[in-house]
Amino acid sequence: MTQPPDLAGRHIVLGLSGGIACYKSAELVRELTRAGASVQVVMTPAAEQFITAVTMQALSGRPVVRSQWDERQPNAMAHINLSREADAILIAPASADLIAQLAQGRADELLSLLCLARPFASGHERVPLLLAPAMNREMWAHPATQRNAAQVVADGALLLGPGHGDQACGEIGDGRMLEAVELRDALIAFFTPKLLQGRKLLITAGPTFEPIDPVRGLTNLSSGKMGFAIARAAQEAGAEVTLVAGPVHLDTPAGVRRIDVRTAQQMFDAVLPLAGQHEVFVATAAVADWRPAGVSDAKIKKQADRAVPGLDLVENPDILAAVARLPRPPYCVGFAAESHDLARHAREKLHRKNVPLVVGNLGPATFGRDDNALLLVDAQGDREVPAASKRTLAQELVREIAQRLSARG
Ligand SMILES: Cc1cc2nc3c(=O)[nH]c(=O)nc-3n(C[C@H](O)[C@H](O)[C@H](O)COP(=O)(O)O)c2cc1C
Repeated sequence: MTQPPDLAGRHIVLGLSGGIACYKSAELVRELTRAGASVQVVMTPAAEQFITAVTMQALSGRPVVRSQWDERQPNAMAHINLSREADAILIAPASADLIAQLAQGRADELLSLLCLARPFASGHERVPLLLAPAMNREMWAHPATQRNAAQVVADGALLLGPGHGDQACGEIGDGRMLEAVELRDALIAFFTPKLLQGRKLLITAGPTFEPIDPVRGLTNLSSGKMGFAIARAAQEAGAEVTLVAGPVHLDTPAGVRRIDVRTAQQMFDAVLPLAGQHEVFVATAAVADWRPAGVSDAKIKKQADRAVPGLDLVENPDILAAVARLPRPPYCVGFAAESHDLARHAREKLHRKNVPLVVGNLGPATFGRDDNALLLVDAQGDREVPAASKRTLAQELVREIAQRLSARG
């Protein structure tokens, strides 16, 4: 099953104002078009000091509009045409000067003019304005910039960042433009229907690692990709997400609170106190059922005259069942990673753990991969969700959870 890219059908006016971060805007155009958007670049004269219109035209596949006096526009009104066509206007980089102009409602060059001319009143014609500030940390911290930024937000713009870190001037601080992929993802999140607005989700992801000695342990092949994809999709849908992650090498989805743990017991200790504060618990993690009864302080050495050491195992606490047993449990979604008889095992898990929904998947076919296929099992029956990317499946699951929550009232 192929899913259209996240920004398919979206038309973005990408404004560049004068800042070093214009070099990142070239990458941003690539990311936006790769995600399916069409991009019309508009540049201020200062932006053209940092990157050429030729580069931006070549990457966007459209001539850059550089002036309000652009004679190519049949009606001579670039500011009206551009702002009416857009699904959103994204200014990246947004310089201190451009933010000041917007705060004052000035319109002496095309980019600020088209922002002023954009359909602004609420209603479906409204064209949102998103700004990615980029400047030296002193410029960003200056009371004038802070005042202007607060004013443009009060006037309806959305600020993306700025980020913190190394700056082109050699200083370190707040004012870096977000990276191209972060801006792309912010735009995707912006357009996502807010089906879980205000809901609180607790999600576990990844494997656990049960130490045998300081260098060895028992673990499994779960990569955490499914749980991280659900965390991202839920956050994009407006949820407040806490992600308890076993040992995985995955970036934290934007806006998600992450708690890293290693063992099943640590995951249990992290989850249980939080579960009651969340409306939904999604147990995606592949939690070890057993752990070694004792952990050796020193590496267990191989010795010629010694027998192969035995491994005594004890049972780990059952996180999902414990959450489901709470006096006021969240809506619990369990994951069953099986190697065979998926439907039967998933239904057994539904009853054994006493949860309203179990999502079955075949572990060997999906661990570490970017795609999966799901079987949703509840009291009413089974529903297959055919093979797709974990991102698509996560979005589907978020819709499913949102529906179930609203059906509960
Ligand atoms: C080398 C250089 C780098 C600059 N970098 C930035 C910057 O990162 N952010 C910013 O707000 N202004 C920066 N400026 C200042 C702006 O380019 C200047 O204020 C310009 O007038 C802004 O025009 P605009 O409204 O088109 O952005 C820089 C200036 C120079 C000479």
